[in-house]
Amino acid sequence: MSAVAAPLAELETLDTPALVVDLDRLEANIARWAAFAREAGVKLRPHAKTHKCVEIARRQIAAGAVGLTLAKIGEAEVMARAGVRDVFLAYEVVGGPKLPRLLSLARDVSVRVGVDSPEVAEPLAEAAARAGATLDVVLEVDTGLGRCGVAPGEPLLALARRVARLRGLRIAGIFTYRGYRPDPEAAGREEGEIMVREAERLRKAGIPVDEVSVGSTPTGRAAGRVPGVTEIRPGTYVFNDATQVRWGVATPDECALVVLARVISRPSPDVAVLDAGSKALTAEKGPFSSAGDSHGVIRGYPDCQIDRLWEEHGRVRLTADARHLRVGDLVEIIPTHVCPTVNLARQLVCVRRGRVEETWAVAARAQVQ
Ligand SMILES: Cc1ncc(COP(=O)(O)O)c(C=O)c1O
Repeated sequence: MSAVAAPLAELETLDTPALVVDLDRLEANIARWAAFAREAGVKLRPHAKTHKCVEIARRQIAAGAVGLTLAKIGEAEVMARAGVRDVFLAYEVVGGPKLPRLLSLARDVSVRVGVDSPEVAEPLAEAAARAGATLDVVLEVDTGLGRCGVAPGEPLLALARRVARLRGLRIAGIFTYRGYRPDPEAAGREEGEIMVREAERLRKAGIPVDEVSVGSTPTGRAAGRVPGVTEIRPGTYVFNDATQVRWGVATPDECALVVLARVISRPSPDVAVLDAGSKALTAEKGPFSSAGDSHGVIRGYPDCQIDRLWEEHGRVRLTADARHLRVGDLVEIIPTHVCPTVNLARQLVCVRRGRVEETWAVAARAQVQ
């Protein structure tokens, strides 16, 4: 993976580790996907679990997003308080304590929620009917990830028939999340085709399906071009990360967020220790260069391997071109997986051409309920 070093001099004043967002790159990512959705004639409903940040949600909506995708009610509550009017919880909401919160949210903003079994649907229906409300549900289809969702064909049809009979629920559509596969273009096309076929099958059985919601950062474009798909839900695109670069879905220049870290020790010529460990970077790693698995990619030094993390330390195996790094020097790390990385931080420091412009709170961080 190649990477271009950004000027670090003006970041010297920042305390570390810090999450630094390049606003030019962020705005370009938001604009690129908004333009794609417009051209393809599909709705864009970004998954905001990536940024958990009100200011970024507002920018996505201003660029044309119809609303947000989220997983947890707590995230949706934060976004609703900030003025977001339309949320899809692409997640099975299960557990008594959640239901009053869900219904209260649905009184304030437009809410849809994922369902993949009668066991999930029935308590939702009872709670909605008791409150005199109707809750929009979206049936989850497993197109190969092996997580939530019912199989296409008879299992989906059987679920749709059961849910259609429940007072208090309305079937708004179907959705899927396919995850990461070696050929994202082919995987996305197939994802879209499966979902359009399933929507048609349900309609023939008399079940109205308005929304056919698909996609992720790797598959969203190909899936979004399939006629009959109505909505795409990319999340990671807003920042991108080393994993997206590895899958060929983004370039290092399109990675809008880095963990800024400082060298705190140089125990040997080919080792540097950073002030960012698993509490700043998460413990996720990936095969980003021939050096072996690394906990992220250091911008400008793509073959350096962050080979080991402790909670507050990250150890780097330095390539020859990085051996000039001294104690106190800054490095920018493109995270392995940006979404959980952001969840660890309280704030995002926003820079434009190396100058700090704003600081945004990660307002929905740790909202896992
Ligand atoms: C249900 C659902 N939709 C959309 C997304 C967004 O995918 P990505 O972050 O790869 O763009 C995710 C990611 O986890 C997801 O779980």
